[in-house]
Amino acid sequence: MSSSRVCWRSRLALCLTLLLVTGHWWDAMCMPDATTPRPVPRRDADYPPPKSVALLTRLGVECIAETGVSPSAIKRFSDEDIFEDDYKLKCYMSCLFRLTNVTDDNGELHLGKLLDTIPIEYEDIMLKMGARCTKPKGKDQCERAFWFHKCWKKSDPVYYYLV
Ligand SMILES: *[C@@H]1O[C@H](CO)[C@@H](O)[C@H](O)[C@H]1NC(C)=O
Repeated sequence: MSSSRVCWRSRLALCLTLLLVTGHWWDAMCMPDATTPRPVPRRDADYPPPKSVALLTRLGVECIAETGVSPSAIKRFSDEDIFEDDYKLKCYMSCLFRLTNVTDDNGELHLGKLLDTIPIEYEDIMLKMGARCTKPKGKDQCERAFWFHKCWKKSDPVYYYLV
C-alpha cells in the first residue's frame, strides 16, 4: 500500500469523525428538548381575528358564569402551558362550543360547523392544526371538548388561542 493511500484513508477517517461529532453538536443545538423555550403564540392586531375575539368574549361571559372557571386559567391555557387539572376549564371549552353553535344534536363538537366559522384567510392554518384532531377521547363532554383544545394547542402552539 502506498503512503499516499494511507494518508488519504486517515483523512477520510478524520472527516467522518468530524461529521459524527458535529452531527451530535448539531442535534444538541437544533433538536427540541426540555430546555428549549416554548414557541411564542401569535398575538397582534390581526391575530387572533378581532371579530372572533369579540364574539368569544361576549359568549365567554356566559360560559364563565355557567362553569365558574377563572379567567386566569383561560388566559394561561391560551398563552402558556397545557395543564390537565382544571375541570371547570374543560367545561368552559364545551360551553363555548355549544354557544357558538358548532355542536351536533348530542352537544358534541361538529368539525364541519366549526370550520364554517373560521375566517377564510385562516382556513389553511386551522385545517392543518386540526388535521390529526378528529377522534376525541374522554368520559364526558367536558373531557372531550378539552381533548380537542389540547390536541390543537399541541399541533400549533403559535396559532392556537382560547378566549
Ligand atoms: C346560535 O343559535 C341560536 C339559536 O338558533 C341563536 O339564537 C344564536 O344567536 C346563535 N349564536 C351564534 C353565535 O351564532
